[in-house]
Amino acid sequence: MGEDYRMGELLSNYARSSFSNCIKALCMLHTNSQREQYAHQLGSYVRKGKAMSRLRQRPQTVEVMWPKMHTASFSTPGLPAVLKVLENKHATSLKDSHVAKYHQTKNLTSTPVVILNCIRQHSSNKRVLDNSGFPKQLIGLTTMGDMTSLSLNSGSRIPLLGFGTGSLGPLTQMSDAEAGRAIGAGLECGFRHLDTAAFYRNEHVIGSVLGEWISAGKLKREEVFVTTKLPPTGLHESKVEAWMLRSLERLKLSYVDLYLIHFPVAMLGSDGEVAPHTTEDGRVRFDPEVSLEKVWQAMEKQVKAGRARAIGLSNFNSTQISRILKVCEIRPAVLQIEVNAYHQQRLLREFCGRHQIPVCGYAPLGAPWTPFSSKLPTLIEDQAVLAMAARYGRSPAQILLRYLVQQRVVAVFKSANPGRMRENMQIFDFSLKPEDMKLLDNLDRGKEARIYTMKSFIGVDEQPEYPFNAPF
Ligand SMILES: NC(=O)c1ccc[n+]([C@@H]2O[C@H](COP(=O)([O-])OP(=O)(O)OC[C@H]3O[C@@H](n4cnc5c(N)ncnc54)[C@H](OP(=O)(O)O)[C@@H]3O)[C@@H](O)[C@H]2O)c1
Repeated sequence: MGEDYRMGELLSNYARSSFSNCIKALCMLHTNSQREQYAHQLGSYVRKGKAMSRLRQRPQTVEVMWPKMHTASFSTPGLPAVLKVLENKHATSLKDSHVAKYHQTKNLTSTPVVILNCIRQHSSNKRVLDNSGFPKQLIGLTTMGDMTSLSLNSGSRIPLLGFGTGSLGPLTQMSDAEAGRAIGAGLECGFRHLDTAAFYRNEHVIGSVLGEWISAGKLKREEVFVTTKLPPTGLHESKVEAWMLRSLERLKLSYVDLYLIHFPVAMLGSDGEVAPHTTEDGRVRFDPEVSLEKVWQAMEKQVKAGRARAIGLSNFNSTQISRILKVCEIRPAVLQIEVNAYHQQRLLREFCGRHQIPVCGYAPLGAPWTPFSSKLPTLIEDQAVLAMAARYGRSPAQILLRYLVQQRVVAVFKSANPGRMRENMQIFDFSLKPEDMKLLDNLDRGKEARIYTMKSFIGVDEQPEYPFNAPF
C-alpha cells in the first residue's frame, strides 16, 4: 500500500510537471518489474493528456530526450510503449543545440543535459549499470541539476544533499582503507557533494579516492562539489593560506568549491597540527585576541588566488556574521550549522534568509548512535517521525532529510553504509505535505537539542567568541 501510494503520487506529480521529470521518475524505480508497472501507468497519464499540455510547452526537451532514451535501449518492456506514444505525437528532430537553447532560455543548470549525458554513458559504458540494468549514476547526476541544488553568490551551485565525512577516519578510529571504501561507495551511490575539514584528518583519503575516480575517467573535477574547512588551530590571518594549501595538497585538487571557517574560537596548536595545545589539567589553550574580521580578509584572498571558488562560515552566530558582513568584500556564500528537526535554529536561519546566505545543515539525522548524542530521545526514533515515515512508505532518515531540503536547507549527513547511503539519496522523488512539514516544525526543542556544543574543548564556552552563548 505504502509503495503504491508513493509511486502513484510520485508519477502523477512528475507527469504533471515535465517530460524530463517523467523519465526521471521511471529511472528512479528500483526494479524492472516496478519500472514496467509504472511505465504503463505513466503511459496512461500521458495518453490521457494529463502531461501533454506541459509537453507541448517544452517541445525541444521532448525532441532531445526521447530519441536518446531510445538509443540507450532500456530493456524495460513498459518503457518503449510509453516512448511510442510520445514518438507518434512529438518526436521530430534531435539536436544538441536544442538542449543548449533550452538550457539557456529556461536558465536551468542542466537537468536535461545531465540526463542526456547519463544516457550516453549508459549506452557506451556498461559499468554504470547496476544488477537490474538501472543506470547507477543517474540519480547522482541529476542531483547536480536545477531541482536539487542551490546557487551560491560565487555563481556555482551546491547540491542540496551532501555526503559528510566527519567520522569517516581517525575521529572514529576508522582506518584509511575503510574510510576510502565508504567515500568510494558514496560516489558510487551518486553523491557529488563531499564535506570534509582539516580537523577530520581524512582529506588525504578523499584526495586518493577523487584522484582514482578522476584518472579512471569516472568523474570530472567539475562534477563534484568539495567543501573543506580551516581548523580552529589555523584561525589567524597569518595561517589561512598555509592551511588552504595543505588542504589542497591532501585533497589533490587545485581548488575547493567551498572553504569554511570551521569554528569562530581560535585555539593554539603546533604548525600544521589540528589538535590544540592543552594545559596540564586538560584545558585547551585559546587565542582570544584573534580578529575574525582579519581572518575573513585572509579567506577572501583564497578566492582571489583561485584556491577556493566560494568561502563561508560554520558555527558562527548572527552577531559574528554581522561583523563579517560589515567588513567583507566577498560575502559569505554559506553558513554551515547544526540543523535537524529537534534543533531547527529558526532565528538564525531567518537572519541568514534576510542576508541571502544559504544555510547548510549538519547532523540532519540528529547524529544517531554517535558519542555526541544528547539527553534527548534519538531523533530518528521519534514517534512522530516514525509514524510519518510509515504513512509515506519512507524511512525516518528520508523524512528527516526531505524535511530540510524541502526548506532549501542543504543537508549534510554521514553514513558508512552503502544501503543507507542509497536510501538517503532517494529524497527528491517525493514531497512532504504542508501539514506534515508543520508537524515536524513542532518537534523543535531549541538549544537544549544542540548536539555539537564543542564543549569537549574544555573551557571553550568561556571564550569571548564562543558562538552558542548568544540568543542566536
Ligand atoms: N561544521 C561542523 O562543525 C560540523 C559538525 C558536525 C558534523 N559536520 C558534518 O556533518 C556530517 C554529518 O553529521 P553527523 O554524522 O554528526 O550526523 P548525522 O548525519 O545526522 O548522523 C550520522 C549517523 O546517522 C546514521 N545514518 C545515516 N543514514 C542513516 C539511515 N538512513 N538510517 C539510519 N541511520 C542512518 C549513520 O550511521 P551509519 O554510518 O552506520 O549509516 C551515523 O551514525 C559530518 O560527517 C560532517 O561532515 C560538520
